[in-house]
Amino acid sequence: MAPTEKPELIDTHAHLDSSDYDHDRAVVIARAFAARIGVITVGVDLPSSEAAVQLAHRHRLIWAGVGVHPHDAKTFDEKVEQGLRELAREGKVVAVGEIGLDYYRDLSPRAVQREALIAQIELANELGLPVIIHNRESTANMLAILRNHRPQRGVIHSFLGDAALAREFLALGLYLGIGGPLTFAKNDVLRQTVTGLPLERILVETDSPYLTPVPYRGKRNEPAYVRYVVAEIARLKGITPEEVAAATTKNACHLFSLSPVA
Ligand code: NI
Repeated sequence: MAPTEKPELIDTHAHLDSSDYDHDRAVVIARAFAARIGVITVGVDLPSSEAAVQLAHRHRLIWAGVGVHPHDAKTFDEKVEQGLRELAREGKVVAVGEIGLDYYRDLSPRAVQREALIAQIELANELGLPVIIHNRESTANMLAILRNHRPQRGVIHSFLGDAALAREFLALGLYLGIGGPLTFAKNDVLRQTVTGLPLERILVETDSPYLTPVPYRGKRNEPAYVRYVVAEIARLKGITPEEVAAATTKNACHLFSLSPVA
């Protein structure tokens, strides 16, 4: 697309620095831009946050999140925190994330995950940035932390819960990130939830290279496939994909202060 054209869609959560793209990253990015899709690429530790920022500096329609994922929380210390703080000053960093809790895989001790999450919420508030939150089988602790250490703004990435949980997060002022799992056969509860969600609080995402939507499930995911998530939200809500695209892009631009489409 031409340098001044606006994106029609924003994939608000991808891992474009993943080694899964080492052989064709430029092609994957070109496919997203050809489909008029902008991308927020998020780090999971300090090196991948640096890689995310480098990608954002090279492409007008890529922005970066910097943070330490709960799996990698054991790598988080004051030095890493300072590294994230310096990265965030470089420009095109629009969020602190991916941060959160994951009690499903437990790849870092839970107490260490909680400490890293709280420190990074405070970092985001200090920097005036929104947070991108990962929450897996850790909802009780997550809600307690979010209530005690309120992020100024943020999104629950890959939201998979029911309507009651959606209301809890919405009441905290957060957006809900909806991705490929919305298209999975087993996820009737999620479809029911999304049907009733206010469109002005939904973001769309892929979590590329993971969580590939139907009809590409089982293959590597990429930002261009965010259209399948948009199509499913449109079907559930009985509106057009264009309406979902316009609303979710507006939401993403608002939450992440994306200037080219303000
Ligand atoms: Ni992710």
